[in-house]
Amino acid sequence: MDALARTEKALQAAVTRAEANGCPPRLAAAVRHAVFPRGARIRPRLCLAVANACGEDNPALAEAAGASLELLHCASLVHDDLPCFDDASVRRGKPSVHKAFGEPLAVLAGDAMIVMAFQTLAREFVAAPDRLAPVMLIVSRAVGMPTGIVAGQAWECEPDCVLEDYHRQKTGALFVAATLAGAAATGADLAPWQRLGDLIGASYQVADDIRDLVADAEELGKPVGQDALLGRPSAVAQLGLAGAIQRLEQLVREAVESIPDCPGAGELRALVLSEAKRLRPKKLAAQVAA
Ligand code: IPE
Ligand code: IPE
Ligand code: MG
Ligand code: MG
Repeated sequence: MDALARTEKALQAAVTRAEANGCPPRLAAAVRHAVFPRGARIRPRLCLAVANACGEDNPALAEAAGASLELLHCASLVHDDLPCFDDASVRRGKPSVHKAFGEPLAVLAGDAMIVMAFQTLAREFVAAPDRLAPVMLIVSRAVGMPTGIVAGQAWECEPDCVLEDYHRQKTGALFVAATLAGAAATGADLAPWQRLGDLIGASYQVADDIRDLVADAEELGKPVGQDALLGRPSAVAQLGLAGAIQRLEQLVREAVESIPDCPGAGELRALVLSEAKRLRPKKLAAQVAA
């Protein structure tokens, strides 16, 4: 089974378990709407690729870690789309959760997915208790205070912020968690994997900022032009479009170079390069090809 199929299976299992036994049907439907159908699932794919590169001995652990990261990512999207944040009506090409189910259920579905992420970890890591605490710490650091997603989103409530900190916290942190959790689920040394997560995370948000300006809503499945409209700090606002593209290319190069020499290096390199290609808006890709 490939990484995507393993991820979908782990997510289906987590969501199905949560829907059972007296769960309010609209809450269950809101959670399912937030998780399926999928987006790129890049965080769990990265986590599984690193686990594989580290010689995983128990695939279910990395699958649980990947699923927990994706549940946290989906929760962050549901909350990010709420009227009190970005007020976005479309996500992954369909109505965002608050548009489809109303604000109370969007808040609750996001909360439920955050809890579900940690339940998913605890359930699977019972088989390897010595690996549970490291993975739990890695994942929780990526989503909370002082430097996880919650902190990153909170910079939007401050009068000023440093763009790199905002990006690293709201987006990069979960990519670092993906590489580190892949290693930790395997009981491997974490140190070689920090830089790769950092660089992929940074490039991902720069790419998202570029796409917000250059791509169209249909291509992205979410609204565009939001950074300028909401006055968000962005790579494009800070560096200009050409500067942001240059920065992205540099980050992708550095990410590829940072992949440690290991048996799974080729697979990781292919993953980073295929994502870089996917994230290049069609208009820019056409310019490059011309
Ligand atoms: C969107 O993430 C939010 C950002 C951090 C830029 P993705 O681009 O990974 O969204 P999906 O999961 O593929 O929909
Ligand atoms: C990333 O920032 C959002 C998080 C969920 C942390 P954005 O607000 O730029 O992401 P999109 O563009 O809505 O996907
Ligand atoms: Mg946002
Ligand atoms: Mg947003």
